[in-house]
Amino acid sequence: MKTNSVSLLAALCAALITPLAQADGVPMPRAALPGYAQECGSCHLAFPPGMLPGASWQRVMTGLDRHYGTDASMDVASTRPISAWLQANAGTYKRVREVPPQDRITLANWFKRKHDEVAPEVFRRASIKTPANCTACHGGAEQGDFSEHAVRIPK
Ligand code: HEC
Ligand code: HEC
Repeated sequence: MKTNSVSLLAALCAALITPLAQADGVPMPRAALPGYAQECGSCHLAFPPGMLPGASWQRVMTGLDRHYGTDASMDVASTRPISAWLQANAGTYKRVREVPPQDRITLANWFKRKHDEVAPEVFRRASIKTPANCTACHGGAEQGDFSEHAVRIPK
């Protein structure tokens, strides 16, 4: 009986917390895909799939040879499971569902809103260079932690 009410409480909490986390565009799937961090995390953070809608991931994955000014192409055997996994875990929450300009997380409205206190010149600091450099400020980004407690803006 005791165990039951505890697990019921846990289930309730999960149900309440999940939509809140998605409101921030944060979610990193519990089961990460082996190979995703390796293939997509060498030049920048392996971005959480829930931060872009499926249509954006589709374009990113079919255009890796012209990837935001660089060539990030990889063999088909590596591309296929990553594409499928990104689709399966793409953002569906209403703020993430709309396709951002250039399929960039950093140009999405929710992203701009969350970073409205960060001046454009701060993003351009030599220690940061670009808004896409999440890990420069979010020390917990690789663990999916973007909370304000884990933010430190480098000088
Ligand atoms: C060879 C290096 C490299 C690899 C490998 C790479 N990327 Fe990128 N990616 C870049 C660069 C450079 C940018 C542009 C960063 C900027 O404009 O600040 C970028 C930007 C992005 C953006 C947009 C970020 C934004 O501004 O919101 C997404 C999404 C993205 N990459 C996804 C991926 C995925 C998915 C993979 C794996 C299939 C991948 N990248 C692999 C170099 C790479
Ligand atoms: C220049 C430093 C900087 C960079 C680079 C940066 N952020 Fe942030 N981010 C912040 C700050 C500051 C906040 C606001 C923290 C607060 O007070 O809630 C924030 C907030 C967030 C939040 C909201 C967290 C919450 O609990 O509401 C998310 C999600 C987030 N950032 C994701 C990203 C992602 C993804 C990237 C890279 C594509 C990124 N950030 C790049 C500084 C940065």
